[in-house]
Amino acid sequence: MSDVFELFPTPVMRVEKLLSGAQVTALNQVLVPGATTQNHRSQALTHTAMLSASDRPELAQLHTLLAPHLKAFGKLLFGEPLTWHIKEMWVNVMETGGRQSVHNHANCFACGILYLSDVHPSSWTLFTRSLGGRDFVFANTNARAETGAFNADKWRSPQPEPGDLLLFPSYLLHEVPPNEGPRRITLAFNAIPERLDA
Ligand SMILES: [Fe+2]
Repeated sequence: MSDVFELFPTPVMRVEKLLSGAQVTALNQVLVPGATTQNHRSQALTHTAMLSASDRPELAQLHTLLAPHLKAFGKLLFGEPLTWHIKEMWVNVMETGGRQSVHNHANCFACGILYLSDVHPSSWTLFTRSLGGRDFVFANTNARAETGAFNADKWRSPQPEPGDLLLFPSYLLHEVPPNEGPRRITLAFNAIPERLDA
C-alpha cells in the first residue's frame, strides 16, 4: 500500500450559472458600451473604467449575488467566513485576435471572472503555476513526459458558459491566449476581506 499526499493545493472555484441569461443580457447592455479604454498590449481588447457596486443598481445586485460565493471561497483561503468587499470591477471586451498577457492582481486577495458571453476554446482562461523567477525550476519537458497535477505548468479552465463565475487567489498567474472566436466579454473584479486577524 502506498499513499500520495497532495500538499498545499491552490483553490480555484467555479460557480456555474451564477447569472441567468436575462441577467447576463442586462449587464452587457449597461456595461459593454463603456468599454472604450484600449488595452496597452492588445489592439483587439478594450476595458471599462473601474466600477463599483454603488455605480449602478445592476452592479449592486451583482455584488449581492457574488457575496456568498466570495465568503465560501475566502474560507478556503483563510479558514473562516470573513466579510469580503469588492474593491473594483471592470468589463473586458475582446474581439477576434485579442489576448491578455500573463499577469496577476497584486492589489487584492481574491479575484473573480464572470463570463458574459460564450468563449471560444482558444481563449478559455489559462492559469500558470509559476514563471520561475528566482525559484528553483524543476522540469522534464519532453515528448515522453505525461502531464499531471504535480508537473503541469498550465491549467486551462473548464468551458465557461455565459453567467459562470471563476474565483481564484490574486497571486495566481493567468492569461487569455489569442481569441480565435467571436467577441468575448467578461467582468473581472478584485476583492479583499474586511480584516484579517493573524
Ligand atoms: Fe486578470
